[in-house]
Amino acid sequence: MNAIETHDLTRNYDSLCAVDHLSLSVNNEIFGLLGPNGSGKTTTVLMLTTLLRPTAGTATVCGYDIVREGEKVRQQLSYVPQDMAVDIKLTGRENVLLFAHLYGIVNPKDKTDEVLSIMELSDRADDLIRTYSGGMRRRLELAQALVHEPAVLFLDEPTIGLDVAARKKIWEHIGTLRKNGMTIFVTTHYMDEADQYCDRVGIVSNGRVVALGQPSSLKSQLMTDVITAKISGPFVPLEVEGIQFVGQKDDEITFTAENGKEALPRIAQSLTENGIQVRSLSLREPTLDDVFLHAVGKQEEPHHFNDQQFRTMLRRRK
Ligand SMILES: Nc1ncnc2c1ncn2[C@@H]1O[C@H](COP(=O)(O)OP(=O)(O)OP(=O)(O)O)[C@@H](O)[C@H]1O
Ligand SMILES: [Mg+2]
Repeated sequence: MNAIETHDLTRNYDSLCAVDHLSLSVNNEIFGLLGPNGSGKTTTVLMLTTLLRPTAGTATVCGYDIVREGEKVRQQLSYVPQDMAVDIKLTGRENVLLFAHLYGIVNPKDKTDEVLSIMELSDRADDLIRTYSGGMRRRLELAQALVHEPAVLFLDEPTIGLDVAARKKIWEHIGTLRKNGMTIFVTTHYMDEADQYCDRVGIVSNGRVVALGQPSSLKSQLMTDVITAKISGPFVPLEVEGIQFVGQKDDEITFTAENGKEALPRIAQSLTENGIQVRSLSLREPTLDDVFLHAVGKQEEPHHFNDQQFRTMLRRRK
C-alpha cells in the first residue's frame, strides 16, 4: 500500500480546471510537487488533506479514501499550509499545546516539550510568536504538525520567504522526519532545494503532470547541454539548426543543444548577426530549473502580479 495514491484526481473551479486527472503514487519518500503559480499545487494538497472535495477521480492516504473515509485520512496526516498557521498572540509552547489538546494527545505537556525540542525551539518556547523570526515560526508550525505523530506530512511551500540558513535547517528537519519513516509531500518553488532534498519530484502545469521522477534522472533525460547568454537590449528569436530556445528570464536567454561546445560559437555568431549585444555566454550541464523550463514552457508574463512576494510580505507581518 502506498502512502498516497491518486487516480485521475480532478478539481474544477467553475469553468477552470485547477487539477486535471492527476495520477500519482507516493511512498516513504520526500515527494516534491513543483509548478508555476496557479498550476494546482495547493488545490492538490487541499484535496489530499480532505479540506476540499474533488470534482472527479479518487485518492487514498494510507489506504483510506479521501472522500468516504475523511476522518481516518485526517488521523494519518498533518498539514502545514502555505500561509501562516500560528497565533502570534500566544507563545510557542501555548500554540503547540493547543494543537496537542485539539488532537486529544494523552500527555499533552510532555508531547509539547518533545516536539519543541525536536524543532530546536525549547529555549524560546515561552516567548510570544511575534518575537520569532520567519524560520522559527515555520519550525513551530512543523512542531505543531508533529504532535499526533502523523504517517504523512503535507507541507505547502515550507521555506518560502526564509533566508538560506533557515531554509537549510527546515530541510534538515524534513530529512530527519523522512529517515524516521514519515512520508513527506511538499510543494516548493525553489528548484535547487527540490533537487537537493526531494527523492522524487512531479512538475505540474495547468493542473497536469508534465514531468515525474528523480531529479537526477529528469536532468539526465534532457540529454542536452545548456547555453545561457546575457544580453543588452531586446531579444529576437533565432533560428539556428540543432539549437532550441528554452526561455528568457530578464536579460538571460537559455538555449539547449546536444553538443554544447559545438553550438556555442554558432549561437554567438547568430546573436551578433541579428544585432543582439552579448555580454556573456556560458555552457553548463542541466539543472532542475532547466527541466522545469523545458517541461512547463516559456516564462509567463514578466510583469505579472508577484503573489509570492506579496505572500512573503504577509508572512512577515507582526
Ligand atoms: N477558491 C478558488 N476559487 C476559484 N479559483 C481558485 C480557487 N483556488 C484556486 N483557484 C484557481 O485554481 C488554480 C490553481 O490554484 P492553486 O492555488 O492550486 O495553485 P498553486 O500551484 O498552489 O499556485 P501558487 O504557486 O501560487 O501557490 C489557479 O488558477 C487559481 O486561481
Ligand atoms: Mg499554492
